[in-house]
Amino acid sequence: MSQHYDVAAVRREFPVVERMLYLDSAHQTPLATSVKDALVRFYSEGNEFAGPKPLWLRRTEEVRERVARFFNAAPAEIAFTKNTSEGMNIAANALPLESGDNVLLVEGDHPNNAYAFLNLQRKGVEVRFVPITGETVDASTFEDRIDARTRAISLSHVTFHAGHLFDVEGIGRLCAERQLYFVVDAMQSTGVVPLDARAVGATIIGSGCHKGLLVPQGLGIVFCKAGHDELRPAYMALSSLADPPADYIARHDNMALRDGAGRFEIGNFNLPDIHALSASLDLIESVGVANIQAHAYDLGDRLIERMDEQKIRLVGPRSRQARSPHIYVLDLPGDGWTEYFASQQVRVSPERDGIRVSFGLFNTAEDVDRFADIVRRRGNPASRPAAMAANVD
Ligand SMILES: Cc1ncc(COP(=O)(O)O)c(C=O)c1O
Repeated sequence: MSQHYDVAAVRREFPVVERMLYLDSAHQTPLATSVKDALVRFYSEGNEFAGPKPLWLRRTEEVRERVARFFNAAPAEIAFTKNTSEGMNIAANALPLESGDNVLLVEGDHPNNAYAFLNLQRKGVEVRFVPITGETVDASTFEDRIDARTRAISLSHVTFHAGHLFDVEGIGRLCAERQLYFVVDAMQSTGVVPLDARAVGATIIGSGCHKGLLVPQGLGIVFCKAGHDELRPAYMALSSLADPPADYIARHDNMALRDGAGRFEIGNFNLPDIHALSASLDLIESVGVANIQAHAYDLGDRLIERMDEQKIRLVGPRSRQARSPHIYVLDLPGDGWTEYFASQQVRVSPERDGIRVSFGLFNTAEDVDRFADIVRRRGNPASRPAAMAANVD
């Protein structure tokens, strides 16, 4: 039982939970039945009506409005992209950075955030990695690192590799004070941690939709704060223009960009996923992100307790202030755990410092207890199945 929402009802939306112990939502969430049904409806429209594109595009704008509300943004601040990595590259290439400028990133953060900026080294932009010294990262992490040529800070909201929750609001305030651009990779937090783009004060937020937003891979979202028309897209297409030519003939003198985030959109959209997102937002909003967060924190507390009983160390932060609600990396002793979990129908991910357990809105306290029992059984070599015991150490 969760005190936050009816998890049993949500769980019925995810038939995969009958087949396996799914603890890998930070990798991807399984498809909910209502989201799958939205995809099937979309494909049927394409199949039976040859694709009613104007209708699909009208719905795209409705979904854009819903995404905007989800992030407390305006529709014109939202662009649809392919994934988080595209969002980070849009940001890196749009910022007006010059040779000698520097950008601050967090050491060990997601490589696709880093590479987007490292690629600017060819323009003479310096990327500085700031280490995580405390339990997590906040404004104090960066304060002394900012110099006269620092132009931007870019980081994840939640880290994929150890489940840190970075203090984006505090860092956003620091960026506002020091007049720095602020770029946030929200891939791991979207749909799990409430994210208010205004409160965070980010210039650009990028996220994919295949984790907390529950749709298949291939759709991303970029928030670009209103009023930043100096940010220019690296790619251009008809859809980037303020006044696209009605005759579809490109001309030198018609290059003015659209206002807002739409300038970063090029070509056709991932329409199936946008339809899926409409259904997943129905599901997420029926529960509420704050409730998803609170439930995941409860599951996390229970996991930490169960792992403490077995003296298994948590790699990332322990306190609720510093940790993400749903990502926990466990320092399990010895090798062979990935194979062992697979043999027990447990889906988790190997991470750089351990095994990552991550919760979705459908996980329960019983899932945590089952997981702890499965760990305990292997923790005691005498009770290991012979085939698995051979794999270990
Ligand atoms: C924090 C973070 N950023 C970026 C990515 C890359 O996401 P995408 O495939 O949407 O580019 C991931 C993927 O797991 C991630 O966890």
